[in-house]
Amino acid sequence: MCGIFGIITSEEQPLGPVLIEAARRLAYRGYDSVGCATVAADGTIDLRKDVGRIGEVSARLGFAEMRGRRGITQLRWATFGAPSQANAQPHLDSDGDLVGAHNGNVVNNVQLRELFIREGLTVRGTNDGETCVHAVERHYDRNGGDMIAAIRAAYADLEGDYAFVITHQNDHRLYAIKKGSGLVAGLGEGMSCVSSDLPSILPLTRRVLYVRDGEIAVLTPDGVELYSVASGERIAREPEWYDGPIEVAEKGGYPHFMLKEIHEQPAVAGELLHLLDNSPHVARFLQALQARRERPVHLVGCGTSYHACLLGAYYLGQLAGRAALPVLGPQFIEQCGACVGPEDVAVFVSQSGETKDVLNAVKVMRERGGQVLGVLNVLGSTLAQQSDCYLPLACGYEISVPATKTFVNQAVLFLYLAYRLAGRNAAELDVLPGLLAQTLDATEGAARQVARYLEPWSALHYLGYGITHPIALEAALKLKEITYAHCEGMFSSEFKHGPLSAVHSDYPVLFVTAPGDEGMMISHINEVTTRGGHAIAIAAEHPALRANADDYLVVPQAAREFMPILATLPAQLVAYYMSVARGIDPDFPRNLSKTLTVD
Ligand code: G6P
Repeated sequence: MCGIFGIITSEEQPLGPVLIEAARRLAYRGYDSVGCATVAADGTIDLRKDVGRIGEVSARLGFAEMRGRRGITQLRWATFGAPSQANAQPHLDSDGDLVGAHNGNVVNNVQLRELFIREGLTVRGTNDGETCVHAVERHYDRNGGDMIAAIRAAYADLEGDYAFVITHQNDHRLYAIKKGSGLVAGLGEGMSCVSSDLPSILPLTRRVLYVRDGEIAVLTPDGVELYSVASGERIAREPEWYDGPIEVAEKGGYPHFMLKEIHEQPAVAGELLHLLDNSPHVARFLQALQARRERPVHLVGCGTSYHACLLGAYYLGQLAGRAALPVLGPQFIEQCGACVGPEDVAVFVSQSGETKDVLNAVKVMRERGGQVLGVLNVLGSTLAQQSDCYLPLACGYEISVPATKTFVNQAVLFLYLAYRLAGRNAAELDVLPGLLAQTLDATEGAARQVARYLEPWSALHYLGYGITHPIALEAALKLKEITYAHCEGMFSSEFKHGPLSAVHSDYPVLFVTAPGDEGMMISHINEVTTRGGHAIAIAAEHPALRANADDYLVVPQAAREFMPILATLPAQLVAYYMSVARGIDPDFPRNLSKTLTVD
């Protein structure tokens, strides 16, 4: 998730230190490259940028000495184009009189870049932030230098979810536009600024104006005006006063990053679907998965990413008839290392792209001549570099140690591939973000109550059947990671083969159920309740299931294959609220690390 910040002042001044501070405050969002641009009173643009950490790049390129009346800084989290100096932001247009930077994903980036190159524009990199600048450049001259008209026309060309800030060297205004990604403006004495989020604005001013989708903010040193992209008309909205602490602003108003990231899931799922619809890499994935159907495709991951592989195998098998073998990273070497060869394909799934157990498996696959496909969140990671082709999860930085939004997007990605492989219309998946939002609304209160029931228990079980089995495992892992209780996830039919002896009065067992499996699950619930256990169902509304369960987390009605993804959300919330009830910080549980680069 990139971050942008722009500022405009009445007098020329040293803007470098202000931009460095803003960049530091955006850093929690995650980044691989950083850049600053200033525009002096005479219109001269000074642009400095590179791959690396803020402190190091800033010292090397001398950000601190940059002066101007306007300034832009950007932290880049690579999605389109590898981390590189050319792809770092901000970007200039062809003749260097416009400078801008973006946050988000322009999903028709490839098509637009090709168009711009054909039209003779100077395209220097492959990043979609540059595409935003050229998109405005193209319409700027045609509209006689009318920036608002140019931005409105560019908005129609740029598909995806993004926000960007742009300025022309001879026009003492900053223009910012929002479509999907966050954007907030700040108003101070002789200064206005705009940013992806509040923390970089609050040290400068607490008078803020939230920009909404489809609005252009025009910043001068005296204030901020809003315009509608659709009509071009001025929009009247008063700024507000923010008096909360900066740390709360960083967490989007949530007490923990985990809860913030749980609530980001509907948005990031939508962004991923837009991205996949326009990604040229999807065709390569599908081609690889379609070839050699007589050989199973291996899905390799660790921890939460392994659970996504388990679910992916169900999706590919049930929906597309494609045999897939989910394997743990180290298990792949031991179990499959000797039997894979040039005719085989493996999909390596990793949020960080740095998990050593996964990279070791990649090495073996490479040595055996097999094809390496990657699914990862951190572009520029080792897995990205070592894959023949990869797909990004497009979740932005996941700060909380327990993976939440990256798991959901891994699941969405596998579901998308299975739909495409099956020849189904992937547009059917566009309802998913809305269903995820409804699920959060419908289950958060009940999840808090269930967490209260579970809080004193130091052992419990999560059971799933068939397609929800991977969710039982993931839910149990989440709970173990952040509550320190022991929780075992199992296939519900296996429970009677031994673990049933754990059940005694009020012993909690959670049942994750997909539509069509309720009858089977009711009998598994009864095995528990007849022995005094406490059954908690996570499922869509189903009268017979309700009659048999003690507690019920009701997920919206949806297609059977959506249920594992939807049911993940209440499971995450249960773990989160139980962790908080136990006085644990869910973002940083003891002994765990977000990225494990050891064997
Ligand atoms: C660590 C983390 C887990 C994560 C696993 C795999 O163990 O604590 O939360 O699921 O690594 O990480 P990856 O980055 O490969 O998805």
